[in-house]
Amino acid sequence: MRGCSPLSSPWTAYLCLLSVLCLLFTPAVMVKENDFKKCHQSGFCKRNRAYADHAVAQGASWQPPYAITSDKVAFKDGQFQANILKTTDDQGAVVNLPVTVSFLKSGAARVTVDEERRQMKDIQLRHESGARRERYNEAEKWAVVGGLALDKDAKVAHESKTGMTIKYGPDLSFEAEIKYEPFAVDFKRDGTSHIKLNDRGLFNMEHWRPKTEKAEPEKKEGEEGDKQEEPKEVPAHLDESTWWDESFGGNTDTKPRGPESVALDISFQGYEHVYGIPEHAGPLSLKETRGGEGNYNEPYRLYNADVFEYILDSPMTLYGAIPFMQAQRKDSTVGVFWLNGAETWIDIVKAKESKNPLALGLSTKTNTHTHWISESGLLDVFVFLGPTPQEISKTYGELTGTTAMPAEFALGYHQCRWNYVSDDDVKEVDRKMDKFKIPYDVIWLDIEYTDEKKYFTWDPNMFKDPISMGKQLDEHGRKLVAIIDPHIKNTGSYPVIDELKSKGLAVKNNKGSYFDGWCWPGSSMWIDAFNPTAIKWWTSLFKYDSFKGTMENTYIWNDMNEPSVFNGPEVTMPKDNLHHDDWEHRDLHNINGMTFHNATFEALLSRKKGELRRPFVLTRSFYAGSQRLGAMWTGDNQASWEHLGAAVPMILAQGIAGFPFAGADVGGFFGNPELELQSRWYQAGAFYPFFRGHAHIDARRREPYMAAEPYRSIITSALRLRYSLMPSWYTAFFHANQDGSPIIRPMYWTHPGEESGFAVDDQFFVGSTGLLVKPVVEKEKVAADVYIPDDQVYYDYFTYNKLNTHKGKMVTVDAPLESIPILMRGGHIFPRRDTPRRSTQLMKYDDYTLVVVLGKDLAAKGELYVDDGDSFDYQKGQYIHRTFEFHQLLLTSSPASTHEGKALREGDWMKRFHDVSFDKIIIVGAPSSWEGKTEVEVKSEGQTHKVPLQFTKAEGGRAAFATVGRLGARVGADWEIDFA
Ligand code: GLC
Repeated sequence: MRGCSPLSSPWTAYLCLLSVLCLLFTPAVMVKENDFKKCHQSGFCKRNRAYADHAVAQGASWQPPYAITSDKVAFKDGQFQANILKTTDDQGAVVNLPVTVSFLKSGAARVTVDEERRQMKDIQLRHESGARRERYNEAEKWAVVGGLALDKDAKVAHESKTGMTIKYGPDLSFEAEIKYEPFAVDFKRDGTSHIKLNDRGLFNMEHWRPKTEKAEPEKKEGEEGDKQEEPKEVPAHLDESTWWDESFGGNTDTKPRGPESVALDISFQGYEHVYGIPEHAGPLSLKETRGGEGNYNEPYRLYNADVFEYILDSPMTLYGAIPFMQAQRKDSTVGVFWLNGAETWIDIVKAKESKNPLALGLSTKTNTHTHWISESGLLDVFVFLGPTPQEISKTYGELTGTTAMPAEFALGYHQCRWNYVSDDDVKEVDRKMDKFKIPYDVIWLDIEYTDEKKYFTWDPNMFKDPISMGKQLDEHGRKLVAIIDPHIKNTGSYPVIDELKSKGLAVKNNKGSYFDGWCWPGSSMWIDAFNPTAIKWWTSLFKYDSFKGTMENTYIWNDMNEPSVFNGPEVTMPKDNLHHDDWEHRDLHNINGMTFHNATFEALLSRKKGELRRPFVLTRSFYAGSQRLGAMWTGDNQASWEHLGAAVPMILAQGIAGFPFAGADVGGFFGNPELELQSRWYQAGAFYPFFRGHAHIDARRREPYMAAEPYRSIITSALRLRYSLMPSWYTAFFHANQDGSPIIRPMYWTHPGEESGFAVDDQFFVGSTGLLVKPVVEKEKVAADVYIPDDQVYYDYFTYNKLNTHKGKMVTVDAPLESIPILMRGGHIFPRRDTPRRSTQLMKYDDYTLVVVLGKDLAAKGELYVDDGDSFDYQKGQYIHRTFEFHQLLLTSSPASTHEGKALREGDWMKRFHDVSFDKIIIVGAPSSWEGKTEVEVKSEGQTHKVPLQFTKAEGGRAAFATVGRLGARVGADWEIDFA
């Protein structure tokens, strides 16, 4: 039990004992769920949900109390500004809410609402709180890195006393119809409504008011004896009982500013599917949340938390939060980004709307109504009108940044467990992986490597010589990742805690003294990474001469950064804790993990003067923007088939929420997977953008070589497959870096016109390779049903069998344990490296294979991006980006148009890479007319030479294919092969 610390009082100890006993007799699921709030236990969620019920119950007579007063309306330079007046029951209270609608060059629009009185700091705080008086307005500072330039071409198309219509976006094809009373905005594209704000009148901003002590109702002693008046039941949306303080699980939140929530309904017109808002363990296409068969009864919650042994198919919160949602209907994608760092809940309901009630079926459309509710802060929402998923991902990427170009090793396999117990243990695992010829790139150290959980130290008995360990790993280009968590052990003779305190860089409690809580080390304090001075100090701790025992191949894992506080409310910090600049923890809780990740990222950038290498930092907690800093994983899953199945939809959701460098603990964190499950997990994990095996301290050792045959070979093949496809993975990461695209892509994202695929979330395409993967996630399953989204031809990856596919239908493929269902879609060309080696670094200068999968029209396209995989020289043009095209029997390699010729001078890597070539080309679906052909001509760099071609004709279900060998054409050069 995490909450039961040895420091707890006897009473808490008794309660802990009780809960442990309960744990033994109730399903784990119940206990875990109850540790975290439901909407009705979170005052502001309950009130806003009830507000929605109240509004809906009133129907047409509902009069939303928010209206723009026409006197202050202005539109200039792409920005609409006005004042929303809130009608309140508070006597004499005038609540002004300044609103701005900004139209951005990127095509996005942004609606921001603040509270005038809070802007002017004209409020009183209770409990002598030292918190800021404004609404939190710094979420933008942490999340947004670009894309805010105003669209000065946006123009007023219509104006009247009741509203204003502004045209903006590409060719002025977007429109925002701003209605004044009640305040509402209708976003249209090409004249049709797509996203409506406050259409249902649920917009609500709980304004600041002084607490008035209400007198207890007097007892009336009348003629009828002692009979008292029944207390009147207060409607839930007006319930004040949680306005001024709120308790949960024995913790009380003092709420010095009282109620201050912001809420808004956002309706997607004609959209049946919505995706995103990670992190939740559930389907990619989000469920309805207000009951009904198969639906949830609770809103999706975003409140970063250490949810120990989380349950599946649930809207409950997990470790990270990205309040970004995409909505999909046939041939149209739109999206919203709710920029708020506080606890947030999102209700989703889908409603059929019939244009003509007599015409059954045909003219009905489904609208998805969402209701966003945050505890505090500004109302700040970005609206994206697409129309394609690619455009949405790109525009969102411009705002919050895209995936950092990763160090190439980070795409290799990571071997982790809690814990490798000594430096000798690490060396031994490293040797064994080699002995069994199992490739891997990184071995990880969990918390036990430290001296009693004091980060930046080593256990002096078990890790006597960390440098020799680092050096052994380096011999084969391998790396070490060590964990560093944000809680700093509060103990004597530990310089890190001394400095944290003396420099004043720790998070404070509501009294203004350092907050002390309980985590792995026992009593701890937390670095406040919102503070620039704290980031600077943090950076100093990672210098090689400060964190002794680390070297160039040491990288970092940040865990517990929600932050996890074992004895805190919902296993985290009290909301009335104070951060840098006196912001309350409540306002920025969901951003907290990202600021810590950011501090470590900065630290790795500056370990040594002149060392300019890409950092690698894994994080558990995240927010919009974390993609700029490293990778994430889905936390403490279990060694079960259900958890294996849950991982792919979760990773897909990360991708469409702009943070695609994601993975799940392969093998499952808790428990001991049976060998079949472990094998299937490696096969699936080989297709996670972040691929790491991890296990709990109580789990049995399960390094791949420990598995008995045939499982060891099956796992090894999966790992080798990952390594051979590394050039394709790296190219997919390059795209994520360029335009925010997901690395593994769900069907709706690649085929937005094919409705039958919109809910499919157990298969995906890898980047733009055309590889369609459907991991097997069920026990004893030896076949897989793969959904086919289009009319292209599909081949089995391993056998080249041509599959009998039909658009919108399933095709069944064999999937015995030793095989992974992977299809190759016709029309694509993807690069591979076919010589297996021990690590990515050892493959750096190996030649390539190109696989050309001919489409129905005998054409195909593909690409390769390659750079040194380590430094930032690619930003100076030190990279190669090729486009391959097979068209009219001619295969060409040419510079990818948008990125050609930037390199002015060859750097070291370019020089070494100079002679790296394409060695082999495989053409799947080769025309039968090639039978008898034995050679083809390669033209490159002014030379022409003949190379052998081997044609294998179609047989049984297998397609014809041709192999061209000893090509010798340089990767960096243009070349062409004539197959005519
Ligand atoms: C948390 C992490 C897990 C790690 C453990 C010990 O539970 O999620 O991955 O092994 O802490 O550090």
